[in-house]
Amino acid sequence: MSNRRTFAIISHPDAGKTTLTEKLLLQGGAIHLAGQVKARGAARRARSDWMKIEQQRGISVTSSVMTFEKAMDNGETITFNLLDTPGHEDFSEDTYRTLTAVDSAIMVIDAAKGIEPQTRKLFEVCRMRSVPIITFVNKVDREGRPVFETLDEVADALALDVVPMSWPVGMGGQFQGVLDLATNTISRPEGDSREFLGKVEEAPALPDDIAEEIELAQAGYPEFDIEAYRHGDLTPVYFGSALKNFGVAELIDAIAKFAPPPRPQPSEAGTIEPDNKEVTGFIFKVQANMDPMHRDRIAFMRLVSGTFKRGMKLTPSGLGKPIAVHSPILFFAQDREIADSAEPGDIIGIPNHGTLRVGDTLSEANKVRFTGLPNFAPEILRRVALKDPTKTKQLRKALDDLSEEGVIQVFYPEIGAQWIVGVVGQLQLEVLISRLEAEYKVEAMLEPAPFDTARWLKGSDTALKGFADFNKSNLAKDRDGDPVFLARSAWDVNYQQERNPELTFSATKER
Ligand code: G4P
Repeated sequence: MSNRRTFAIISHPDAGKTTLTEKLLLQGGAIHLAGQVKARGAARRARSDWMKIEQQRGISVTSSVMTFEKAMDNGETITFNLLDTPGHEDFSEDTYRTLTAVDSAIMVIDAAKGIEPQTRKLFEVCRMRSVPIITFVNKVDREGRPVFETLDEVADALALDVVPMSWPVGMGGQFQGVLDLATNTISRPEGDSREFLGKVEEAPALPDDIAEEIELAQAGYPEFDIEAYRHGDLTPVYFGSALKNFGVAELIDAIAKFAPPPRPQPSEAGTIEPDNKEVTGFIFKVQANMDPMHRDRIAFMRLVSGTFKRGMKLTPSGLGKPIAVHSPILFFAQDREIADSAEPGDIIGIPNHGTLRVGDTLSEANKVRFTGLPNFAPEILRRVALKDPTKTKQLRKALDDLSEEGVIQVFYPEIGAQWIVGVVGQLQLEVLISRLEAEYKVEAMLEPAPFDTARWLKGSDTALKGFADFNKSNLAKDRDGDPVFLARSAWDVNYQQERNPELTFSATKER
């Protein structure tokens, strides 16, 4: 049984993801001072030019990996790989893709706010990929909403069974501690450790309403069922305060105990199990130009099977010939190190000069092709206009590169010369303009496009041709030359779908 747990934290901005990340790393002994995650982020951001946007807005556009270990009570040492997802509202495909590389997720909810739109969106992506969720209701040291209401909301909004594993004993000013529903023990933060207040029935005079609430809680919810959790039908809920480092140890225990070990990955020729001997993995993210002086890129690979050894030769599916991986990077909370070996579930960074693309499979024998790494239909479409029309070639190269990297998607319409870029979040457009200028010396402007969304088309050649005859002005090709329907509205998509049942209009595309 693998001792790896690879997970992400999903939340709405301000729910406490950064604070919780710091406390998780702190508990794992990976950092010694809270606040270092932010500090390290600032140092990293300062390094590269285009990340100015991040600095200006005080956000992190790019996601990274943090690895830490913890010895559990049963003597086992668990390696946790925490994949950070950007926490801003305009999240990009990067966020979605990161979720293709995890086995489980923690959903952080602000006790006062409940489930917010971004959380729900990320949750939907997790559900699509059957990524099981542990819920952490944060900030119980502040005034929150009634606990029952919060749990009902999670259950209703996400159509999930909820099983509280703990219960806040009072919230806000009344907050006394957290009750562990399995052991029936109340404890509360006391400096860096915790003070046990004893069994609930012995606890010093609980106010009547709280005592009554706890009685109801103990009787009112089903037992935790690990299979239902792992299937994504149930979420265990923990209450705590990231700021006060409370409930965090329980959360780590829960990931160690319940969260699934590295999952098998679907491939064109069947499922690849993690205990398969051959080393295989896939690229879920490429971060380019971390050093603006050298066009370097780091491709993030999730190892699916086999034991990776430094110097090993792997063949990227997009390249067809092997590359030797001499300086793979492992990411620790404070530092990066050259990795000598890695196990399924681990993430390694592979420096390269553009040979590795998001969605690539890497393998020893070059036979496996992983599936299930989608492109998402863009929600914002813009026309790209050049300030200097002689730079068409450079622009095309840049758009191809950046779409490979997953910064944007590009569509080349069948009619007309103006290319269209599609993004999931507004911020990607700013990144695009600034990188076009900084890295490709191309000054471009974005203009409104008469389209609202895009769908990948699939069907027989005859069906596609029949459709094209009537809809040429709405057709484009993507980076790979695959046909795309540019729609004026969601209504337009539905309408065409009904009229053309022999075609599929897909909102995602396998890479
Ligand atoms: P994010 O990454 O999800 O955006 O959230 P972040 O951790 O930055 O937390 C957002 C704000 O909520 C921060 O306050 C943080 O201190 C506070 N916070 C996080 N967890 C808790 C908690 O358990 N209890 C309470 N009371 N507050 C919490 P801020 O004032 O916006 O930022 P800062 O000045 O503390 O950096």
